[in-house]
Amino acid sequence: ATEPLVLGIETSCDETGVGIVRGTTVLANVISSSMAEHARFGGVVPEVAARAHLEALGPTLQTALERAGVGFDDLDALAVTAGPGLSGALMVGVGAAKGLATATGLPLYGVNHLVGHVAADILHDEGVEGRDVEYPTIALLVSGGHTSLLLVRDLIDDVELLGETIDDAAGEAFDKVARLLGLPYPGGPEIDRVAREGDPTAIRFPRGLTKPSDLARHRYDFSFSGVKTAVARWVEQRADSGETVPVADVAASFREAVVDVLLGKAVAACRDLGVPRLLLGGGVVANARVREVAAHRCADAGIALRIPPLSLCTDNGAMIAAVGARLVSAGRPPSRLDFGADSSLPV
Ligand code: KG4
Ligand code: ZN
Repeated sequence: ATEPLVLGIETSCDETGVGIVRGTTVLANVISSSMAEHARFGGVVPEVAARAHLEALGPTLQTALERAGVGFDDLDALAVTAGPGLSGALMVGVGAAKGLATATGLPLYGVNHLVGHVAADILHDEGVEGRDVEYPTIALLVSGGHTSLLLVRDLIDDVELLGETIDDAAGEAFDKVARLLGLPYPGGPEIDRVAREGDPTAIRFPRGLTKPSDLARHRYDFSFSGVKTAVARWVEQRADSGETVPVADVAASFREAVVDVLLGKAVAACRDLGVPRLLLGGGVVANARVREVAAHRCADAGIALRIPPLSLCTDNGAMIAAVGARLVSAGRPPSRLDFGADSSLPV
């Protein structure tokens, strides 16, 4: 039997994504981002994102079908991100997917966004070699909307949330710190660029939830609001005393603090649980220092590190379609059409 042809829709944050896969092969992965519309607010505005999805979804869907060279008649199933994410944004995708399912008679699978990020690793795309995935793996998913550490024993049956951020997502912290340093949105790439010229040891910013007393309750959780506030105070004091702010040093030191915690906790999870694999996902994986430190610490600890291509790490429809295809192959029944968008859907 040929592998299932599945169309996936992703609208959990600011990317409208429609992907089409045949099993684990990407036939189309089209993304329309409303990032630029959020720039003047310094962060994703939920209402703006939802409206942008509404406008972008039709054309994105059309383009994906054209690129893949298929029509609805060829598809075996539809998949859509049911959560977690921004509720208005999710509702646009879920509503559209239900409409399509009703109109075409195709089965529809509601997919967890985080599981989608994990599935990015099984995809074969243009220029991406065949990827044999082994489980269990630890997955560290870091973006502007989430910062989660997962234990994956099986993609569709056994994904366990080990920990997550208790306040800001790491990407959100990058964006906020960039803003207070006068750098444009999105701030992650800007901080990454500026940090190249800075000294990461210049300022010791706090590492959230790493004190022994915090580890007892939050071993695999993250907190980035403390480091953000520490940077704000540090910069303020400098400015108040009339000194120039060493932006490159602040950026490098901040980036180091965040990356140190992210990889520190991810590698600790691998060690504690005896899992010699680490998968990275989410937009913050673009960070040069994240990649460096991950490569270094994983090599030291004998952990196999997997980083999908960036086009599959950031939010996209192909990763959602990939989960749908797995569910079809496993003979799972589709979701009932009365499922809703759930902004805090658990894995
Ligand atoms: O996964 P993603 O594209 O989408 C959403 O979160 O919706 O992630 C975007 C986030 C933003 O917060 C952005 O600042 C951050 O990822 N980001 C980075 C870098 N590139 C993007 N953060 C740190 N370093 C980077 N190079
Ligand atoms: Zn995401």
